[in-house]
Amino acid sequence: MRILMVCLGNICRSPMAEGLLRDKVKKHGLDWVVVSAGTESYHVGEPPHPLSQKVCLAHGIDISAQRANKFTADDFDEYDKIYAMAADVYREIQQIGGKAADMSKVDYFLNELYADPSSQHRIKKNESVPDPYYGNEEGYITAYQLIDKTCDAIIARYKKENYV
Ligand code: 4NP
Repeated sequence: MRILMVCLGNICRSPMAEGLLRDKVKKHGLDWVVVSAGTESYHVGEPPHPLSQKVCLAHGIDISAQRANKFTADDFDEYDKIYAMAADVYREIQQIGGKAADMSKVDYFLNELYADPSSQHRIKKNESVPDPYYGNEEGYITAYQLIDKTCDAIIARYKKENYV
């Protein structure tokens, strides 16, 4: 199982998703590959946003060694599942992939929470993780909580389906 988390800058949302899912994958003894990328190149090579790092570290997850990468069409060959953090990201993934892109590999990240029958969240289909980039720490905490629950749903679903 090879999973790619995608947002715009690859410094706020998808690095948290990479760090959280990787941590859960390890705790569950799964052999999945989890990485992240951004559809824009503004921040390529940079570490995650200081507030993304802070909020993750508060939960014991160190994402400081991650570096921003740009999403490319080749990623459609590299990964089994590509999660778009938001609607604009989904459209960019489609655009970058072009006509040959296998969009069946791509889903809105929060659709995993929407599909989870035990979820207490009022998530609608094709919802976006709110972009915390222009706000304060509260936005990062909100994003963290949504991402945490969604990563739990991903583990529960695909572990049950025996993905390795
Ligand atoms: P992210 O947040 O997509 O969650 O990493 C953003 C980071 C940077 C920018 C936009 C969103 N930016 O415009 O530079």
